[in-house]
Amino acid sequence: MGADWNGFEDSRVQGFEADGPRHAEGPAAPIGVFDSGIGGLTVVRALRRLLPRESIVYLGDTARLPYGTKSAETISRYAVEDAGFLVARGVKLVVVACHSASSVALDELARRLDVPVTGVIRPGARAVVAATRANRVGVIGTRATIGAAAYERAIRAERPNVEILARPCPLFVPLAEEGWTDDAVAEAVARRYLEGLRGEGIDALLLGCTHFPLLAPVIGRVLGPGVALVDSSEATAAEAARLLEERGLLSAGGQPRHRWYLTDLHPGFESVAALFLGEQPGEVLRASVAGSGE
Ligand code: DGL
Repeated sequence: MGADWNGFEDSRVQGFEADGPRHAEGPAAPIGVFDSGIGGLTVVRALRRLLPRESIVYLGDTARLPYGTKSAETISRYAVEDAGFLVARGVKLVVVACHSASSVALDELARRLDVPVTGVIRPGARAVVAATRANRVGVIGTRATIGAAAYERAIRAERPNVEILARPCPLFVPLAEEGWTDDAVAEAVARRYLEGLRGEGIDALLLGCTHFPLLAPVIGRVLGPGVALVDSSEATAAEAARLLEERGLLSAGGQPRHRWYLTDLHPGFESVAALFLGEQPGEVLRASVAGSGE
């Protein structure tokens, strides 16, 4: 790990000492997952279903959310700091559960990290290619994700001749955070964003943002039953399992222990977290990664 690893050096937890091992300790070590906020808990949910014996350390950078409206340079810096926080807690694998961070920072993370790293892009690309018969797919995400065109590259790497219609849908993020996921407001916003995808012959739409699966019912109504909605969280969990298995790092058993960190504990985060995770998380601690604290 390079000397310029500021995220690692500066990561600190406020109010208590980091209690995990400082370096990855093989199969018993936890999986680290980070997102700009709590949307990445959808990936944790899939990981827990697929790998129930694994411990998870989750970091949501709620103090600096949203990432999707920021520049690639800023998102990359945040991602490096977030990953550093997890590495300092001894994780054996880093899962970048944020589509915006995966779009712009995955290569840099792979270069810097001593532990394996995976994002949501390649698994999502594979899943949408598997879902299309028409060879014509839609991709929606934040402005950062769509602007970086990482999904287009990943989809074409899977199947070069797939036609791709990509659209940024930034307002879906605050709608999901607000819990306005299936009402008249959500439907009006979805109609406006997705109008250009209707009647274009796509038969699969990749939900390229942590928050968008929560709006799936409304998106589905707007696009109609002929369009399969693809959520990459299951595919991401499968990719994580594959990486761990390949390296002999799958947990051998024992009681999993999860740790939840957010960089800001805003009012109401517990109910939103439960929405994404599908259950109440345990105790959530406030963490400060380099640059995100006061
Ligand atoms: N987690 C982000 C993503 O998946 C959405 C929220 C944000 O913009 O930070 O792109």
